[in-house]
Amino acid sequence: MSLNHLDHASGRPRSARRRRYRTVGVLVAATLALAACGGGTEDVAGGGGADDAAGYPEQDITFVVPFSAGGPTDTVTRLIAEPMAAELGASVIVQNVEGAGGTIAAGQVAGAESDGYTVLMHHIGMSTAPALYANLPYEPLKDFKTVGLVTEVPMTVIARKDFEPNTFEELTAYLKENAEDVTLANAGVGAASQLCGLLLQEAVGVKLTEVPYKGTGPALTDLVGGQVDLMCDQTTNTTPQITADKVKAYAVTTPERVASLPDLPTTEEAGLPDLQVGVWHGLYVPADTPDAVVEKLTAALQKALKDDNVVTQLAKLGAAPSSPEDATPGAQRELLTSQIDLWAPIIKKAGVTVQ
Ligand code: MLT
Repeated sequence: MSLNHLDHASGRPRSARRRRYRTVGVLVAATLALAACGGGTEDVAGGGGADDAAGYPEQDITFVVPFSAGGPTDTVTRLIAEPMAAELGASVIVQNVEGAGGTIAAGQVAGAESDGYTVLMHHIGMSTAPALYANLPYEPLKDFKTVGLVTEVPMTVIARKDFEPNTFEELTAYLKENAEDVTLANAGVGAASQLCGLLLQEAVGVKLTEVPYKGTGPALTDLVGGQVDLMCDQTTNTTPQITADKVKAYAVTTPERVASLPDLPTTEEAGLPDLQVGVWHGLYVPADTPDAVVEKLTAALQKALKDDNVVTQLAKLGAAPSSPEDATPGAQRELLTSQIDLWAPIIKKAGVTVQ
């Protein structure tokens, strides 16, 4: 695998990379989507009719999380599950279906009944998987309907507490000297932590030993325990450990500092402006789900994202709820489409393909 291609192949012009974090991901896509759709909270309907959802929901709804319990995707899902359940008038059960960087869960939901009772929470990995997996058992744009974007989350570069380097500058120098001895935890091929780790290795120009887990919940436990050295992970998972001083934190991978971690420099401030990645999350249902059912889920999502507890907890964890304009099927679909196009050439040139 040649990591040296990553940046050259990114297709991201320097000016785009240097824009605000939101413009890298959600906002650009949402703006494009709104321009295309005419704006507003929209386009959930389009096929199917209100009658398709007349009795919905009349049983428990399962939210499938493609990574381990206790990790960032799980945290965000559980946070919105309760207010969405209250709005929908049904219980929401959170089920963790781990493995293969989130693709097992996505494949399972793609093949589930299209009745609105099986909902997938996934993140940026939905857009990177088609390039990463040679035999992906689903097509993100064909096999799912989008429900709406949920949140965007910065990532942090962290290490075990007693890892030698103390600053990001020291870290890059240390990695260049000791690359073959450094272990880098991630949540498998297709995980956000793996993508961020690839960008880190590319930006520094090293190849580290990657250690895959079924989610960064267990990976972080091992990092705190000193079993692995280094990890990139979302602030929704790392903030409590950083503030409790249980890990060493080097930088946040967004153009601006995160309010909940004000002392943490950005990767740009620390000298690696090319290491920028934010993680967007969204909800999906199988492709044949009636539009009227999707409409009910979108409405519940939008309500949940205004819930005081959701807003407060996300802010404490360095994240932000998606706006009502972004928490729509159209905005999520536009973002998914543009992100598949963004990451495919980067991953192809990096040669990181799973057969
Ligand atoms: C990731 O790296 O993709 C996530 O942190 C996975 C997770 O939620 O555990």
